[in-house]
Amino acid sequence: MNTSQSFDRAASVYDQTRPLPEATATRGIQAILDITGSEAVILDVGTGTGRVSIPLLERGARLIGCDLSMKMLMRLQEKFSSAQLAQADSALLPLPTNYFDAVLTVHVLHLVGPWREALREFRRVLKPGGAYLNIRTYEPAGTSPREQLRGFWRSWVTAHGIDVRLPGVQNRTEFLQELQTIGASVKEVEAVRYTYVYTLQEELERYQTRVYSDTWKIPNEILKQVSKNFMRTC
Ligand SMILES: C[S@@+](CC[C@H](N)C(=O)[O-])C[C@H]1O[C@@H](n2cnc3c(N)ncnc32)[C@H](O)[C@@H]1O
Repeated sequence: MNTSQSFDRAASVYDQTRPLPEATATRGIQAILDITGSEAVILDVGTGTGRVSIPLLERGARLIGCDLSMKMLMRLQEKFSSAQLAQADSALLPLPTNYFDAVLTVHVLHLVGPWREALREFRRVLKPGGAYLNIRTYEPAGTSPREQLRGFWRSWVTAHGIDVRLPGVQNRTEFLQELQTIGASVKEVEAVRYTYVYTLQEELERYQTRVYSDTWKIPNEILKQVSKNFMRTC
């Protein structure tokens, strides 16, 4: 059984629910190219519907995308028909050794059960000295109301006996430790800082409509109860 979280169920709504401000996205894409160089052969693992890989391809990048979810890949292909794509598990890549100059993951490893194996696969397919870029498109600067809300939400769901943890990387510490174990030298870069404005109602709707993957295994009845609680308290 595959213990990773495929996004098949999110394919039809992913693009509407994970937008990035255009200027932010443009600067982020440039930051990737500044690191990899424009001639690099890039593998985007968990490429999804192409939120990052399509702008890179549009800039002429030599990129292959792979994902566990065929439905996500089909969306990508509809938008960029010449994209080279493979349905593949990050922990068992059907790709040659020492081939890529850079491997990207953008919001993926928290979903990958065998994420330690995946990191070893990235090292295998990378050329010696190649770069692995693990990118987050949001990382709260200081105390974030969004993360606080998420904390409330999680504690209520957990109180109903539901384990909302996703199958992959649980925190930054274990991720950095594993990178160290496999001999990576790590550098952290803040490429773009931006403000994300939303109302409480909008955030609640994201939970109620199961936009976030950590809501997917919550039974309907509990989701309803916790949503009520959420609104009352906030
Ligand atoms: C949150 S989405 C991110 C998509 C894209 N990188 C982006 O930033 O928009 C995570 C993607 O990782 C894929 N995924 C999850 N586990 C995977 C695995 N073991 N191997 C490959 N892809 C995986 C999911 O199917 C999904 O498309």
